[in-house]
Amino acid sequence: MRLLVTPVAQQQFNVTEDRKADMAQDAVSCFTCHTSGHTSGVFHLNPDNRPQDTRFRIDTVSLRGVNIQHFFGSKRTLRSLEDFSEVEAKTAYFDGDPVIALKKGASRFMREEIAAMAAIQNMIAFPPAPKLDISGHLNPDKATESELRGEQIFTASCSQCHPAPYYTDNLAHDLQAERFYDGRAEGLIKTFALRGIKDSPQYMHDGRCLTLEDTVEFFNLIQGLELTAQQKKDLVAFMRTL
Ligand code: HEC
Ligand code: HEC
Repeated sequence: MRLLVTPVAQQQFNVTEDRKADMAQDAVSCFTCHTSGHTSGVFHLNPDNRPQDTRFRIDTVSLRGVNIQHFFGSKRTLRSLEDFSEVEAKTAYFDGDPVIALKKGASRFMREEIAAMAAIQNMIAFPPAPKLDISGHLNPDKATESELRGEQIFTASCSQCHPAPYYTDNLAHDLQAERFYDGRAEGLIKTFALRGIKDSPQYMHDGRCLTLEDTVEFFNLIQGLELTAQQKKDLVAFMRTL
């Protein structure tokens, strides 16, 4: 926990002239972005791609419930929490450039420290969801009519990729969103877990959907569902219980 809240030098926010942020900062910590193990809601540009206009915008994910995941990063590129913690420090912080890193005062975590950082992240829980039973489904005694209808629609249209109890299949899918715009394809994106989803707008890997209502419109289009206005409301009501 100490390592997660200890600021270290970072490429984008630092005291040198060539930084991305307006204001110089000595350093940032993991929890600067993953605020209290959750998220600041800020997005940044994927450091791995060049030129600039091919860079993905990526939303800062919440670390709540991160222990149930099988792979990490929206492009599902890393297999362990240890690797992700190390990569955040090395690659993401300095675009993998050791010379710039040195100039800006990079510090490296030791393997023992990485293991400890992963261990504590594995303890960050999803927020309480008092209307769900032990299998992650709604308890009919506690749920409203609308939430229960929403669960039914969700089970029919969404749960193949977002199954209970955590509402992720731990896979990545190509939603072929480029069918609806001119531009580069997005390819495989990880299915995000929907437990606790009401707490972490904006939504999707790049934060393109500002509200849960927007995500329902998105999937209505992507899947060609033709949902009615009432069904859309019910789906949102259900997702707010997760
Ligand atoms: C500048 C902001 C920022 C800082 C600082 C930061 N992260 Fe992240 N983190 C992100 C973003 C953005 C993502 C999403 C990456 C993606 O979608 O591919 C992310 C993703 C992650 C993930 C993957 C979670 C998942 O659901 O796949 C883990 C684990 C993580 N960060 C841990 C850390 C640790 C540990 C540190 C400190 C060493 C750290 N982060 C520092 C912004 C940050
Ligand atoms: C084919 C698999 C698939 C189906 C079916 C599906 N989803 Fe998703 N869902 C995904 C993937 C993949 C993402 C991440 C997409 C991205 O970030 O670009 C996602 C993202 C989301 C998000 C945003 C999560 C976040 O953390 O930002 C919400 C909310 C969501 N889905 C709700 C739904 C709803 C509601 C339905 C049914 C109407 C549905 N999904 C159907 C695969 C699916």
